[in-house]
Amino acid sequence: AESPEQVVWTKGGTEAINLVANGLGLSIELGDEIIVSEMEHHSNIVPWHLLRERRGAVIKWIPVKDDGSLDMAAYADLLGPRTRMVAVTHMSNVLGTINPVAEITRLAHAAGSQVLIDGCQGAVHATPDVKAIGCDFY
Ligand SMILES: Cc1ncc(COP(=O)(O)O)c(C=O)c1O
Repeated sequence: AESPEQVVWTKGGTEAINLVANGLGLSIELGDEIIVSEMEHHSNIVPWHLLRERRGAVIKWIPVKDDGSLDMAAYADLLGPRTRMVAVTHMSNVLGTINPVAEITRLAHAAGSQVLIDGCQGAVHATPDVKAIGCDFY
């Protein structure tokens, strides 16, 4: 990370994602969109479902292809002016898929969205460079 001040300690991934979702939730308006993928851990789905219930957000899903990779063309089509958050795992705990998180982040930022990368697997199986990925939250 850029500096120690950017590191926030939590008990684990679930708490970290809830922290981000609850903070973002304060500014979410009816019809704002959150993009997650079909390969997410429950911890990266439920906080966004709660935002849908509380604030009327719309959840959109990036499909997973037969080879276990994300459908990046479908992802590009999901992004739009209402996208507020893209929340995708670095590495799938089920498939082992390593997602192109830098590219996912680049496309999301170009659409004006923030990005959360779930690093629960990525952080232990690799040495993620948060600056290179460019995400807002890891
Ligand atoms: C990809 C992924 N996300 C989230 C979690 C949940 O993390 P935690 O148990 O630290 O809340 C896990 C746990 O294995 C995981 O593999």
